[in-house]
Amino acid sequence: MSYVIPADRGEAEALDSHDLLGHARELFDLPDGKTYLVGHSLGPATHSALDELERTASGHWRNELVKAWNSAGWFDLPRTVGASLARLIGARQDEVIIADSVSINLFKLAAAARSIARTPALIVEEDEFPTDQYIIEALSKLSGRDFVRAKSGDGLAHLERSGGVLVLSAVNYRSGEIRNMAGAEGVAHSSGGVIVWDLSHATGVTDVNLQEAGARLATGCTYKYLNGGPGAPSFLYVRADTISRLESPLPGWMGHEKPFAFEPVYAPASGIQRFASGTPPILSLAALSGALEVFESIDMSLVHDKARALGELVIARADALGLEVASPRDGRRRGGHVSLRHPNGYEIVQALIHRGILADFREPDTIRFGLSPLFLRFTDVWDALDALADILATRAWDDPAFRQRSKVT
Ligand SMILES: Cc1ncc(COP(=O)(O)O)c(C=O)c1O
Repeated sequence: MSYVIPADRGEAEALDSHDLLGHARELFDLPDGKTYLVGHSLGPATHSALDELERTASGHWRNELVKAWNSAGWFDLPRTVGASLARLIGARQDEVIIADSVSINLFKLAAAARSIARTPALIVEEDEFPTDQYIIEALSKLSGRDFVRAKSGDGLAHLERSGGVLVLSAVNYRSGEIRNMAGAEGVAHSSGGVIVWDLSHATGVTDVNLQEAGARLATGCTYKYLNGGPGAPSFLYVRADTISRLESPLPGWMGHEKPFAFEPVYAPASGIQRFASGTPPILSLAALSGALEVFESIDMSLVHDKARALGELVIARADALGLEVASPRDGRRRGGHVSLRHPNGYEIVQALIHRGILADFREPDTIRFGLSPLFLRFTDVWDALDALADILATRAWDDPAFRQRSKVT
């Protein structure tokens, strides 16, 4: 690992001053006086995203109007932005498209995958993000196929037996645990099964490499570590040799080989475009396109290294506070966030937010610290843990104001 773990604030300052990723922080438009530990949920704005949004809205939309579909390259944007994201997940440029949401792309990929899996059984583990479970179960109801909600960690054993379709997160949303993608793909290959990867918590913070892992299908968020903006569309990946073997179950006109021929019968586009369905959200794509500029010269293995080091710092200090750590301690098995457990987790997170330190809470008792390496400094994390120590020691969390629940936690 290129980073050491600071033992005191002075060491944290020294690490920040030599950090090879330190320059990236100024590419973000961060509000003053806040420490943002929620980049795993909604990444903050970058200057380039805001500039591109402005250029697209006030420049192209306002001045060029409908012509901009051609003159500003809007029609191709799902693929051009997909191509710039491809390197971050170890994919080829023509294997990625930006479209829809993760929920919808999971549906499209899992439904399509059944035509190449040995059997159409659908499998998802019980501790996957809820949308993954809801979508796969609903797909099985629609098609009357076998559905297995496997115990946590048992999905691969079911895949091995059934040769069906398994939806699996590369990094678990709650614990931050990383899956061995190549190992899982080995099981899929030998059983005739197919894995649909959910890369939502892996992309932009780990050095995930789909090609090396032998992965065939994947989707993930762009609004988390990629900082694409609230509701930014998802990406969808299909390995080049698999694209022509699959058809989207939602064959909208944007996935047709000639959308402007307005033909009554669907014929899929030849490349990854066949997985598009409807009109792309251009303003969101513009913001995402700008946000991805931040990653242009960034070494993702360094990003992952720093995420691990920040995580180790959180874990060391949480241990000293006697808090339960709900994430893997081994940095090689951990993504970009660390989860701690406390029966009053919700109130503690509110008390942190009250002090300008933004973290998030997941039922029933999980405090998550998202450790985005591009804008967070070791001193930020050090100071956040000082604040947490004080909140626990003084029981500052024990205040009726901190018990009130908002819709979004
Ligand atoms: C692992 C995972 N999958 C899927 C989603 C939701 O995706 P979407 O809202 O784009 O459908 C999330 C949202 O946080 C997530 O963490």
